[in-house]
Amino acid sequence: MPFNLPIMETSGLPLLLLLLLTAIACNSHALTDAEVAFIARRQLLSLSKNVDLSDDFEFDVKVDYQFANPRIRRAYIALQAWRHAMYSDPSNVTGNWVGPEVCNYNGVFCAKALDDSSVDVVAGIDINGADIAGYLPNELGLLTDMALFHINSNRFCGIIPKSFSRLLLLYEIDVSNNRFVGPFPIVLVGLPSLRYIDLRYNDFEGPLPSELFDKQLDAIFLNSNRFTSGIPENFGNSTASIIVLANNNLGGCIPSSTGRMGATLNELILLNNELVGCLPMEIGLLGNATVLDASWNSLGRCLRISVDCLALLISPSLTTTLMWKMVSA
Ligand SMILES: *[C@@H]1O[C@H](CO)[C@@H](O)[C@H](O)[C@H]1NC(C)=O
Ligand SMILES: *[C@@H]1O[C@H](CO)[C@@H](O)[C@H](O)[C@H]1NC(C)=O
Ligand SMILES: *[C@@H]1O[C@H](CO)[C@@H](O)[C@H](O)[C@H]1NC(C)=O
Repeated sequence: MPFNLPIMETSGLPLLLLLLLTAIACNSHALTDAEVAFIARRQLLSLSKNVDLSDDFEFDVKVDYQFANPRIRRAYIALQAWRHAMYSDPSNVTGNWVGPEVCNYNGVFCAKALDDSSVDVVAGIDINGADIAGYLPNELGLLTDMALFHINSNRFCGIIPKSFSRLLLLYEIDVSNNRFVGPFPIVLVGLPSLRYIDLRYNDFEGPLPSELFDKQLDAIFLNSNRFTSGIPENFGNSTASIIVLANNNLGGCIPSSTGRMGATLNELILLNNELVGCLPMEIGLLGNATVLDASWNSLGRCLRISVDCLALLISPSLTTTLMWKMVSA
């Protein structure tokens, strides 16, 4: 792992996942719909001026401080813009986000640059659970050394800006349990280093992009949004060990390509969608899966009409705690 961040030193995604899975905090104060609309409108105003950042954007910003290096200056511009896009910070987490020493800001983690070990750069942001209300400004695209972006359990509204396309080192993004809206943030699919994507507990809507499953990801958490349409046919191309699509409005069948994930898939959770039809036979190929849960869909009927499905349910190749639960219609 490239950075000396404590979270990455565990170098075990499973441990990280375990922690994240066991700690889905839902303790945000409620924002009224009017407040959400206000914050989202502010973001739209700021984003419409600048669809993406211009390449020389950072030089247009006048800052009087001396900085350790130009990348820290860029990070300062990004973090100050973000601070101005925050409307409520009840625990004063960003209270010390002043001055040029951005590495001392709460929730901001620095490490040696990957390409130059003589300079410190902002390698991660973790303000999980800070309960901050606001939006993500375009300037966050200046944090080009960032590998981790963890903002779960806050009250951020609006969308993930296009400027995130500049975050070529971003490895983990966790924006779960916020108030994000709009279509799947397709900008994330283009990020070459991204391995861990967590969008759960937001209001994202519309179809899942098929590109998501052609991407080299380790974990995909999309549960508790408003995703619709079917699961793309190339679903089985995914290399993720855990995929959670529960509590959306996904329809259609479970793609037969699912069986191609045998070598990598550990957990697949599809519960509480609008999936129909029978389980594909290929599910039996998921020999390394420990949790398969497709309950609360309309798959149950196949139990009565298909002996094949029944055979799958007791297939010895599905070892350990198989939870292929069915709710008959
Ligand atoms: C917030 O934190 C800053 C710096 O830690 C401190 O100076 C300021 O007084 C705090 N504000 C409140 C309202 O507690
Ligand atoms: C993904 O799956 C589709 C159809 O299931 C296939 O045509 C395509 O070649 C696959 N892509 C990769 C990168 O494996
Ligand atoms: C389980 O995982 C191992 C190691 O990745 C792999 O060699 C094996 O083929 C997988 N089993 C199945 C049934 O795919």
